[in-house]
Amino acid sequence: MIISGKELSAKLKAEMAHQVAAFPQKYGRVPHLVVILVGDDPASVSYVTGKAKASEVVGIRNTTIRKPADIPEAELLDLIRQLNEDDTVDGILVQLPLPEHIREAKVIETISEAKDVDGFHPLNVAALWQKQPCVLPCTPKGIIKMLKAAGVEIKGKRAVVIGRSNIVGLPVAKLLLDENATVTIAHSKTVDLPSVTRQAEILVVAIGKPGFVTADMVSEGAAVIDVGVNRNPATGKLCGDVDFAAVEPKASVITPVPGGVGPMTICCLMENTIECFLNRQENRLV
Ligand code: GUN
Repeated sequence: MIISGKELSAKLKAEMAHQVAAFPQKYGRVPHLVVILVGDDPASVSYVTGKAKASEVVGIRNTTIRKPADIPEAELLDLIRQLNEDDTVDGILVQLPLPEHIREAKVIETISEAKDVDGFHPLNVAALWQKQPCVLPCTPKGIIKMLKAAGVEIKGKRAVVIGRSNIVGLPVAKLLLDENATVTIAHSKTVDLPSVTRQAEILVVAIGKPGFVTADMVSEGAAVIDVGVNRNPATGKLCGDVDFAAVEPKASVITPVPGGVGPMTICCLMENTIECFLNRQENRLV
C-alpha cells in the first residue's frame, strides 16, 4: 500500500481550516506565520511557496519576507528580533539552508522558542529529549502521523532510521522510541548496512541519495518511509532515497516521492503555527 501524504495532509488541513475559521470570533484574529527566505535557491523558493499555499488553505495569515543572499548576518538577526517582539506574529521560520556567511545555529537560537514553528531551537530540542512539552519538528511529526494513519503499529517494532541529522534522523528516532519502538540509528558509514536494515520492520530513510535503498536492504512486509528529496540524475525528476519500483512490492506500506513525507511536513508546520498561536493566546509557556 502506498501511503499518500498528499491525501492525508489535505484531510488534516481541511480539519485545521475548520478550527481556524472559529478563531476571529474567539480570539479576534487568525494565526500569523512569517517565513523568511534568504537568496533564491530554486528548491527553497518552491518550499516557501508551498508553505504560503498551505497557509491559504488553512486560513493562516502568511507573510513571506525575501532577502538577498548577501544580507549581513546582523541584519537578519535584527529582523528576527523585531518579529520576536511583534505581538501580531505567532510563528517564525527561516528557510534553510542559509548562505555560508550566516551562522545557522545563531539564526535558530535567535528565534524565540515560543514562535519556533520548526522546533529547531535548542530549548525545544532539549525539551523533546527530556520528554517535556515542546514544539515537535515538522518532518518527524508528519512521519509518525503517516505511520499511524496507515495502521502501522509502532509499539514493540524494530525501527531503523538511516540518517542522523538534527532536522530528521535524530528527532524521528526519538519519536519512534517514545512510541515504544526499538530504534537503531544507522548512517552512510554503518558497516554492512543491508544486514542492519533487513532487521527493520519500520525503515525510515533520510540520507539524500537517489536510489540508496535497494530491494536487498528491505525485509518482506516492512513499512518504508522515504524522506529523501533528490533529482534523478538521469531524468531530472524528483525522487526519494528508495528505489521505489524495486522496494514497493516487498513493503507492506511505502511513501512515494513526491507526494509522501513532503506534504506532511508542511501540514505539521500549519499545526505547529496553530499550536504556537493558541499557546500565546492562552499564555501557555512552551
Ligand atoms: N529546509 C528544508 N527543510 C526545512 C524545514 O523543515 N524547515 C526549514 N526552516 N528549512 C528547511
